Amino acid sequence: MKLANRMQSFTSFIVMDILERAIALEEAGHNVVHMEVGEPDFELPAPVGAAMVDALMRGETHYTHSLGTMALREAISRNYLRIYGVEVDPQRICVTTGTSAAFVMLFGALLNPGDRLAMTDPGYPCYANDALLVGASTVRVNPPLPDGSRTPYCLTTEVLEENDLTGVDLFLVSSPSNPTGMLTDEAVYRWLLERDIPVISDEIYGRLVYEDATPRTALSISDDIIVVDGFSKAFAMTGCRLGWIVAPPELVGPLNRIAQNLYLSPPSVAQWGAIAALEQCDDHLEEMRSAYSKRRERLMVGLEELGLKVAGRPRGAFYLFADVSRYDSDSLHFCRRMLDEAHVAATPGVDFGKNGTQSFVRFAYTRDLGQLEEGLARLRRWLPTL
Ligand SMILES: Cc1ncc(COP(=O)(O)O)c(C=O)c1O
Repeated sequence: MKLANRMQSFTSFIVMDILERAIALEEAGHNVVHMEVGEPDFELPAPVGAAMVDALMRGETHYTHSLGTMALREAISRNYLRIYGVEVDPQRICVTTGTSAAFVMLFGALLNPGDRLAMTDPGYPCYANDALLVGASTVRVNPPLPDGSRTPYCLTTEVLEENDLTGVDLFLVSSPSNPTGMLTDEAVYRWLLERDIPVISDEIYGRLVYEDATPRTALSISDDIIVVDGFSKAFAMTGCRLGWIVAPPELVGPLNRIAQNLYLSPPSVAQWGAIAALEQCDDHLEEMRSAYSKRRERLMVGLEELGLKVAGRPRGAFYLFADVSRYDSDSLHFCRRMLDEAHVAATPGVDFGKNGTQSFVRFAYTRDLGQLEEGLARLRRWLPTL
């Protein structure tokens, strides 16, 4: 079969390869500690489940408006006011089939073949592949590595000045970042806007911040910034497949046309659960955030005791990006061995880019403290054998 040329550059998500190998080990009777996938281990919050069952029983199982129900768009708008103090017209909110669909829609609406999307390296790998689908290419912006005096892997205006952004058509900022957990300062958004570079802000981990960090949205900087957010991470709703875009008014019509053609509508039943998530789940969210915070502290100390230094001081998301070069200069090789020999699964840094990533492994703290302790104990026994 003749495949499109783009498939030569369309990479697989290595974390899924690791997960598949881990599942094969489990099927062969081994116990694996999973720190590879970025999926919350928490159950769906009860009010979300109840609202979805209700919706199902009422027969809310049909297509909705392509941009989502007005009830959910209004609930998202109210949430912006309540959490961030920002007024957002519900007409500017487009509900999407996970934030994954949001990126495809936005790139379809904003990028021509040959256009350039800028993103940090390391960064979430799907952005580049989504851009490839519309014939756009990716410009990698490289924040400093951990060996210098600056905060490692942190996107700053200094980093923007150092990189050549000529001809960049769109800049995607992800804060907190996957895989580093770093937050991006407001100055970065302002720098880009002053140079008329359109910005998308991926805020899917925005409610999962720790220490003294508070939830922030780039919408409080400017309505010209396109914001993407979703329910998967903060509300443990990955399978519900719901996200949203807040777009400038002139972009809503084009996004609607793309949604009509690509998806028809976001999942209907899940949209009723999403309203409950925003309006009845503050306590659930806080419980999950506080559990992640404790896990983060424990895993960070545990990894560093083993000589796996964490890059910087990650303040959000649920990942630690740790340097394994003391044991192996090839993080993919390290991860394969760690899985086969210690039965601990984590994701090699090379899944996220090329900027020093061969030395790093992403550990997700999406398992409870008991399992994280078990993972650390296995590493404590295994690392000295290398
Ligand atoms: C930074 C980032 N953005 C977007 C997504 C997509 O999530 P979803 O499609 O479940 O909303 C992920 C998933 O891991 C992510 O890490």
